[in-house]
Amino acid sequence: MIGIIGAMSQEVANLKEAMDNVKVEETAGMEFFQGTIKGREAVVVRSGIGKVNGAVCGQILADHYHVDAIINTGIAGSLRNEINIGDIVLSRDTLQHDMDATGFGYPVGQIPQMEKSVFEGDQALIEAAKECCARVVPEIGVHVGRVVSGDQFVSDKAKKAWLAETFGGYCTEMEGAAIAQAAWLNHIPFLIIRAISDKADDSAEMDYEEFEAKAIEHSVKLVLALLEKVA
Ligand code: ADE
Repeated sequence: MIGIIGAMSQEVANLKEAMDNVKVEETAGMEFFQGTIKGREAVVVRSGIGKVNGAVCGQILADHYHVDAIINTGIAGSLRNEINIGDIVLSRDTLQHDMDATGFGYPVGQIPQMEKSVFEGDQALIEAAKECCARVVPEIGVHVGRVVSGDQFVSDKAKKAWLAETFGGYCTEMEGAAIAQAAWLNHIPFLIIRAISDKADDSAEMDYEEFEAKAIEHSVKLVLALLEKVA
């Protein structure tokens, strides 16, 4: 069974609609929709926003649903000029940009006393997602790169530049790296699939409102195609 997490209800609404034989269970205030999508076993859930919600949700998918893969879908702010609104970013890897133990001599982004702080997306899922993008959304740019997550909506060009320069981030959002860490701790392959809703700069709030729906449409289309291919 594959677990699919979106942070916001808009991000999972169409996925829930595509489900058959649905059974709903509530845990930790989150509704888990278990059923089939295009004949594949899946559980779709809205985690809520931010890293803690993402991590808790990932752990429940591991413990309770024994998922064999986790996909985190949704929208993100672009950190690079060539990544446009509407484009898709697949996580080559991901980290938490607001993990900061520099006071103890750790590089920013590094989690103290942990074996790793950068979590790699599953290679087979990346390849499958790339193939699906080329087939179902051929007009859209697809980028495989680093997703940087933090408990922060980035709408400031200095912060954006810092994220791009310090971490080599392709896009920024608020859950992916936490879900990835939960997946890694539980030995579950994962992939973050994000469509760009804004440029994470001073125009982010306005663009976000205008392009959120379109970006979500792209990521949903891709997730549905991917499910058909891999689940
Ligand atoms: N999700 C979509 N756009 C974002 C941004 N600019 N910062 C953080 N999360 C986002």
